[in-house]
Amino acid sequence: MNVYTYSSNTQLNEAAAGLIAATLQQKPNAVLGLATGSTPIGVYEKLVEMYKEGKISFKGASSFNLDEYVGLPRDHSESYYSFMHHHLFQHIDLPEDKALIPQGNTNHPKEECTRYDQLIQEAGGIDLQILGIGHNGHIGFNEPADSLSGATHVVTLHEETRKANARFFNSIDEVPTHAITVGMAAIMKAKCILLLVRGADKADIIHKALNGPITTQCPASFLQLHPNLIVMTDSEAGRNL
Ligand code: GLP
Repeated sequence: MNVYTYSSNTQLNEAAAGLIAATLQQKPNAVLGLATGSTPIGVYEKLVEMYKEGKISFKGASSFNLDEYVGLPRDHSESYYSFMHHHLFQHIDLPEDKALIPQGNTNHPKEECTRYDQLIQEAGGIDLQILGIGHNGHIGFNEPADSLSGATHVVTLHEETRKANARFFNSIDEVPTHAITVGMAAIMKAKCILLLVRGADKADIIHKALNGPITTQCPASFLQLHPNLIVMTDSEAGRNL
């Protein structure tokens, strides 16, 4: 594991976007695993800037997002589909049919999970997986539990997670109760994982995830086992590392 702590958000964004750019330069048809949440937004902004300057192209690449809420229409402002289009996809040359996100607004979520795993497999797996971390140690929407699922699955969101995400909705009642998330297998099989962590409120959980016991009660702790994990934090999140 390689841990890098940056004194400014700009440096963190540049370093993370630089790693993604290097992946695309080495392998123009790279398969990217993408995350939502507030943490990667600055990295996506930097990637858009680099694309506009002609420094990178996503033309040959494909991407799989980690998760999506169940029951939100795609055009809802807080769907992860809307998030990705707003922050990244509408600004770059990644072909629309190669930018994949689980379809949460379906009557057949289990079939959607199977279909999504098949698509990841057919693409040859993830080359570079971008991750954030929840305050309870969740990655994607793999919540702490007595057991974890390897496959893409439907998950009941923890109250803590719904509360944390309520800031994006008018009230907590509007936050969906379920989501589809890529499971631990696709994440752990990624050739490289880039875990991004910002803010003092994440200092304890990132310390626990990287230094504590490997336990299903902290899904991010399994990242300790990954052979090619890169962690980038700001100085507040990384103060105990
Ligand atoms: C969300 C997402 C995760 C994200 C996490 C942290 O619920 N499903 O992929 O990493 O919560 O979000 P933030 O970066 O806003 O703290």
